[in-house]
Amino acid sequence: MYFLELGGEDDAFAAREAESAAADVRPIAPGLALANAVVPERVRGLAYAHRASELLGRTDADLASARALLEAASIDRDRDATVAVRATDVHGSTGVSTECAERELGQVLVDRGFSVDLEDPDYLLRVAFSEGQFERDEDGRGDLLSNAEGGVDESVSVCALGWLAAESVRDFGTRAPTDKPFFQPGSMDPLLARAVANVAGARPGATILDPMCGTGGVLVEAGLVGADVVGTDAQAKMVDGARTNLEHFLERDEPSPTGVSRGSWHVGRGDATRLPFADGAVDGVVFDAPYGRQSKIDTHRLEDLVSGALSEARRIASRAVVVADRSWASEARQAGWNLEAAFERRVHRSLTRYVLALE
Ligand SMILES: C[S@@+](CC[C@H](N)C(=O)[O-])C[C@H]1O[C@@H](n2cnc3c(N)ncnc32)[C@H](O)[C@@H]1O
Repeated sequence: MYFLELGGEDDAFAAREAESAAADVRPIAPGLALANAVVPERVRGLAYAHRASELLGRTDADLASARALLEAASIDRDRDATVAVRATDVHGSTGVSTECAERELGQVLVDRGFSVDLEDPDYLLRVAFSEGQFERDEDGRGDLLSNAEGGVDESVSVCALGWLAAESVRDFGTRAPTDKPFFQPGSMDPLLARAVANVAGARPGATILDPMCGTGGVLVEAGLVGADVVGTDAQAKMVDGARTNLEHFLERDEPSPTGVSRGSWHVGRGDATRLPFADGAVDGVVFDAPYGRQSKIDTHRLEDLVSGALSEARRIASRAVVVADRSWASEARQAGWNLEAAFERRVHRSLTRYVLALE
C-alpha cells in the first residue's frame, strides 16, 4: 500500500490524475490519498501529486501518535542503511511542528539501529499530517467526483508515514506559456496541460491527439511523458507556432526529466469537426475549447464546433478530456460519450474552468 501527497487545490482532480500512475486511488484526508500500487516512472510525470510513499502506517495527526506508530512499526529496511525524515503539515492544517516531528521521529529510527544522513539518505521517511473536512461518498470512499451528491462530510485527522518511493519532477516553471518560443493568450498552463494529458492516457506507446492544439501546450506535456502526439488547429499561425514549441521541447536525444524518451510529434492544419484520421486511430483526445469570444473560427458557432469535435473524438478514440469555460456535458453525452468524471474550479470572478473526463 502507498500514500500519495496531492498538490493543487482540487484533491478529487489530483486523485483522478494519479489514477494514471497508481491503482485504486482513494483520498483519505485533505491532500492525502491511498493507492494499492504505483508505477514510479509515471508518478514522476504527475502534475498534481508530489510523492508516493510505501505506507508504514497511519494514525491521528499528532506527534505522539506518529511516534508510537513508528516505534511499533515493523521495518524491513537494512539496518546498515542511512535514513532521514521529512515531515509536512498539509495546508498548515494541524499546527504540528514539522521540525519537531523530523527530530523526534529521526531519533526513533536511530533508537531502532539506523544512522541518519540528512544530505543523501538511502531511505527517506515521509510523514504527512492533515486535518480537515472531508467528503466520503456512499461507498465510504473519498470523493472522486468533485460534485458528487449524497456524500457525507466528516472531520478527519490523519498522519501517514511511509518510505518515499517516487517523486514527481517539478520542472513546470521552465515551461510557463509566456516563456515558450511561441506564445498566444489563452495558452494552457503546463500543470493543467500535464494533468489532462495524463487523464487522457498519455504514456509511452500511447498516441494522444489535440484537435485544437493552439500553441501545443497539451502536446508538449503529453510528449514529455513519452506519448506520441498529434495536433491540428484551424489557424495556420497556430500550427506554425505549435511546431516551433514542439520542436523546442520534444526534439532532444536525451530522455525527458521524467526519465522516458520523448514521444514523436506531428502537427497539421485541420478542422476539429472533420478530422483526417481513421476510426480508432488514437488512444486519447484532449482539447481545450475556445472560451466565449476567444479564437473560434468563423465557419462554426461555438456549440457546433464543440459538438462536432466531440463526435469526431468519439469516432477516433475511446477516451477524451475536454477543458472549457462551461460544462459541455450534455453535448458530450449526445456525441455518445459516458461522463466518467467532472471537475469544476473557479479560476477568477468571471472564469470557472470545467474539466470533463469522457469514456
Ligand atoms: C483555447 S485555444 C487552445 C489552446 C491550447 N490548449 C494551448 O495551450 O495553446 C483553442 C484553439 O482552437 C482552435 N480552433 C478553433 N476552431 C477550430 C476548428 N474548427 N478546428 C480546429 N481548431 C480550431 C483555435 O485556433 C485555437 O487555437
